[in-house]
Amino acid sequence: MNTTDTLQRLVQAIEQLTYPQTPRELYEPIEYMMRLGGKRLRPLLVLLGAKVFGHNNTDTLTGAALSVEIFHNFTLMHDDIMDCAPLRRGQATVHERWGNNTAILSGDVMLVKAYQALMEVPDQHLRAALDDFNKCAIEVCEGQQLDMNFEQRPIVSETEYIEMIRLKTAVLLGFSLALGARLAGASATDIARIDRFGQLIGIGFQLKDDLLDVYGNSAKVGKQVGGDIISNKKTFLLLKALENANPSQRQTLDHWLSLTTFDKEAKVKAVREIYDQLAIPVLTQVKIKTYFEDAFALLETLQADASGKTLLRHFTEQLIDREQ
Ligand code: IPE
Ligand code: IPE
Ligand code: MG
Ligand code: MG
Ligand code: MG
Repeated sequence: MNTTDTLQRLVQAIEQLTYPQTPRELYEPIEYMMRLGGKRLRPLLVLLGAKVFGHNNTDTLTGAALSVEIFHNFTLMHDDIMDCAPLRRGQATVHERWGNNTAILSGDVMLVKAYQALMEVPDQHLRAALDDFNKCAIEVCEGQQLDMNFEQRPIVSETEYIEMIRLKTAVLLGFSLALGARLAGASATDIARIDRFGQLIGIGFQLKDDLLDVYGNSAKVGKQVGGDIISNKKTFLLLKALENANPSQRQTLDHWLSLTTFDKEAKVKAVREIYDQLAIPVLTQVKIKTYFEDAFALLETLQADASGKTLLRHFTEQLIDREQ
């Protein structure tokens, strides 16, 4: 399997999805969101999860692959409301362009559309796939709620933070791989293992997302740089800064965290300066590596062909140093 060609075909399938013409106000934002681009990581993971266990017929996996991408885009549409995010993939977010009510309702339809796409999996796998999907979707909401709760809390432990990102982000990567593996007829043990593998890389992936939120190039990331600092997100970067700050750095951090009205750019600059002084980016990158390394060790334990495992490893390795 050539991941570049497969990705190209996936992108085509996503862009060729058609939507009803009316009400235009409901469907246009969905079309807009789905065609904005993005890495299309999760549907590719469905195909890779199947490939590892010898399932090469990507055509029969399209429904499953589309379903996780539609679900992901639904979560982003609602996440952007919660995070007051102005930009997504370099363009205005749906709620910025059409308002919160539209973003809520169009998002709701996308969740249902994700189920519709999942219904295309063969009957023999449908109940288990739905069961896993339901669990995953609820966990994503739990993670999103914790993420918002933590904005209001002065201190969050690293364990709490990791559990929050496992829920909001990592379980969907795990589910995507596990779904592919299930459709390929993998054993229950292997399905659970590849799910865990996906969760480990998912935690690394969200840590990297937090890092890019502060240090990424806005043109590449396509999001507002510094958004997490502006909204007091308890990211790994902030937790480590609070933990390692000297009294004067701590005072500066506490000051910016306590302000309700402030100059956004000044806050981002001040907090980033402290991150720089404390070498937080290096610390974060080291943490990211440990999650990927644990994932790669687990990958070796799968009862599968070495070539499929190598493909998955090489593909996921690129996520460590991604710039978008
Ligand atoms: C963004 O996901 C939300 C997170 C869970 C970090 P992606 O970084 O996969 O976003 P797209 O789909 O490529 O835009
Ligand atoms: C989003 O996390 C996780 C979900 C959408 C479930 P973030 O809020 O960090 O994602 P971005 O940075 O907006 O893409
Ligand atoms: Mg968020
Ligand atoms: Mg967000
Ligand atoms: Mg983010």
